[in-house]
Amino acid sequence: MFTMSSFILRNKVTGTVWKTKAIQHQCFSSTGLKRAQLNLLKTEAFINGKWVSAKSGKTFQVTNPATGQVIASVPDMDVTDTKVAIEAANEAFKTWGKTTAKERSVLLRKWYDAMVAHANDLAALVTAEAGKPLPEALGEVNYGNSFVEWFSEEARRVNGDIIQSPQRSKEMMMIKQPIGVAALITPWNFPQAMITRKAGAALAAGCTCVIKPAEDTPFTALALAELAQQVGIPDGVINVVTSDRSNAPGIGNELCTSPHVAGLSFTGSTEVGKLLYKQCASGVKRVGLELGGNAPFIVFESADLDKAVEGAIASKFRNCGQTCVSANRFLIQDKVFDAFVQKLKDKMATLKLGDGTKPDVNQGPLINMKQVEKVESIVKDAVDKGATVVYGGKPASNVGPQFYEPTLLTNIKPNMVCYTEEIFGPIAVCIKFQTEEEAVDIGNSTNRGLAGYFYSNNVSQVWKVAKLLEVGMVGVNEGLISSAEAAFGGIKESGIGREGSHYGLEEYTYIKYICFGNLQ
Ligand code: SIN
Repeated sequence: MFTMSSFILRNKVTGTVWKTKAIQHQCFSSTGLKRAQLNLLKTEAFINGKWVSAKSGKTFQVTNPATGQVIASVPDMDVTDTKVAIEAANEAFKTWGKTTAKERSVLLRKWYDAMVAHANDLAALVTAEAGKPLPEALGEVNYGNSFVEWFSEEARRVNGDIIQSPQRSKEMMMIKQPIGVAALITPWNFPQAMITRKAGAALAAGCTCVIKPAEDTPFTALALAELAQQVGIPDGVINVVTSDRSNAPGIGNELCTSPHVAGLSFTGSTEVGKLLYKQCASGVKRVGLELGGNAPFIVFESADLDKAVEGAIASKFRNCGQTCVSANRFLIQDKVFDAFVQKLKDKMATLKLGDGTKPDVNQGPLINMKQVEKVESIVKDAVDKGATVVYGGKPASNVGPQFYEPTLLTNIKPNMVCYTEEIFGPIAVCIKFQTEEEAVDIGNSTNRGLAGYFYSNNVSQVWKVAKLLEVGMVGVNEGLISSAEAAFGGIKESGIGREGSHYGLEEYTYIKYICFGNLQ
């Protein structure tokens, strides 16, 4: 437990009123957070190296989706505050953009080391605001940290080209330069990793950034900013603007249209992505969009069914199904359909719902009531149109208002919402197919193209189907494919550009061609 004086001291440092801290302490101590974790809990936004309130003085409360308890309040910023953050990033770019790759690499490595040292604290924040169970939150933090490690190394390999000139009087080269200020709009489903995947690349390239975290999960973003400041990342290089839902559209528009912002990277829904894309068009900004998916997960008759079920659980129930790359439609070959459904049902029966700080819990809540209502309506639509509920099928109100039972549905028809749309919840839908061609056709019968998975032990089929699936990422006999070293991104309406890998860094650079003329 904390003494009162530790609050008063922290108060003097942050300038936040004493009462607010006391309330946070009560809330956090009841969720089991410890001293170091509380030290990373920031309740102000971060602009130009300072912890600041909204100019309007407004704040909004953030709640723990598992318990419904208020964690704390953060500034409800608007366009005025966003302009200040963009200006800070723009000023900082004048020096950060001129640092050497080695200097940036060293600082990014220090940021990574700090995140590793605070991995448990960051995970506790992720669990508190996003609801995912602690071991899974720690998995996200390790995954998120790996992007900063990766980009700290990649920073030093952003090389250009010397070209063979076709004329003796000319020499030609191409160099890569940072685009400038990057606006990073990040989602609630991976509050840590989606920031590090973007900010790690942006900073490595020499860009500065303004981060707008989702309203449900601002604390992890603020904690990352705190660690960045502790390791000496200069003022203005990272800025975090927090806001409630109602101010988000205005802030998004400002980030997309400000002449001082060079590019936008957004992870979220396809609908919002399209809007931001349009807004960026007026200034012809660099755009990176990681949008929704509708991943097919195909199980062919030659597959190892136990491995397929293991992959299905990992892909479908990671973060309670609230993942863009989550398996959305299980397509199972007729000969193994019944066996797969039975095995999946048995495995789903081992999932334990609850508050992610409790031991053994491996399924958290949905992020908010809007998500609960969406999942409920998708299941109702399917059942009304003839789907069979094999397992689950209703809210887990006995656990809490935001929990939904892991659910398994069969007898799925193309006119059901779960067939055509991203579910983003713990609902597994199984569809029977007969031929490889049919499976590929169903898999591709969507305007989304993020991830796809299939299980097969037929080598020719593996090559063929991997090439035929209209997606940006394929898992072959594997349900978890994300990695800092690999390019993450989609085709069709699932997005533009790639994150992670060396391609992720190139999103934040432009190529400048330099011609040396009149040489003798
Ligand atoms: C996402 O769901 O947006 C990201 C998932 C991942 O990086 O694996």
